[in-house]
Amino acid sequence: MTIATGHPAASVAGIGAGGAGLRQRYYRRFTPIERVMHAALMLTFVGCALSGLPLLYSDRPWAATLARILGGFEGAGLIHRVCAFVMITVFASHVIMVFWKAIAGNRLLAILWGPDSMVPQPQDIIDIWRNFKWFVGRGPQPQFDRWTYWEKFDYWAVFWGMFIIGGSGLLLWFPVFFSKLLPGWMFNIAALVHGEEALLAVGFIFTFHFFNGHVRPAKFPMDTVIFTGRISEHELRGERAVEYERLAREGLLAGKEATPPTDESKWFGWIVGGTALALGILAIVLIVYSVFK
Ligand code: HEM
Repeated sequence: MTIATGHPAASVAGIGAGGAGLRQRYYRRFTPIERVMHAALMLTFVGCALSGLPLLYSDRPWAATLARILGGFEGAGLIHRVCAFVMITVFASHVIMVFWKAIAGNRLLAILWGPDSMVPQPQDIIDIWRNFKWFVGRGPQPQFDRWTYWEKFDYWAVFWGMFIIGGSGLLLWFPVFFSKLLPGWMFNIAALVHGEEALLAVGFIFTFHFFNGHVRPAKFPMDTVIFTGRISEHELRGERAVEYERLAREGLLAGKEATPPTDESKWFGWIVGGTALALGILAIVLIVYSVFK
């Protein structure tokens, strides 16, 4: 059976919405540890945002209500610090894991170059150009390898943001210790930078990142791949045909085949993803309301 979705690479033999009794194949995209780390990052980010915003907008009536729900300003401060600690730990573990894996597999260069690298490469520029041409109906939908340019953008937005928001946050958290090392004006800058970067991060994650995961027509209402860790053959060939063909060529495809996602993992995705989505939209609404009111 062949289905046509409007995209040449999405004409996939043997699969389709109905499946007509044929089994849909799945491939492993994220390991369990990567899924747990993403969930931890999501929850701690939402936790930091909701417990930090009442401080930033402490003169607004909603801030008092939100802080009260979180156990008062002291409770919100505690939640903020616990979430920040977990977030920094997850981030540090991620960086260590990237280098650890690369050193153990003798593939240090793969951090900087190749399909598994998150570092932007010339192909990403070509992909951006082709995708924008596709947006305006001037070319076919481009095909991607393991990471698309917008996934790399999201990754680096969080990566450099961690240094800015984490660094300034640590200064605010341990002022006595850092005052022995740094001049006083740095604390004013840190307070300013932390608040502004928080707004930028919340604005970016809860709009662009949510758009990519929820609102794109191919993903609506939710892309659960980060929760189940598995991508269907239909999706892999429909959006990441370059990866699919590369894996097939290198004989790595069969090794990546996985069992279909369980109902539990899908429900987990819907509940965790849906909660983060709802809280993220709440944060955006509160910020926009506070800025314009
Ligand atoms: C990653 C490590 C982070 C650390 C160590 C950290 C630490 C802190 C500390 C110590 C404060 C002062 C809290 C108080 O006085 O009770 C603070 C305030 C704040 N944090 Fe964070 N934070 C982090 C991440 C985040 C994130 C991810 C966000 C938002 C997405 C965020 C948003 C805020 C906001 C909006 C404030 C209030 C700023 C102001 O009053 O001007 N923080 N943070």
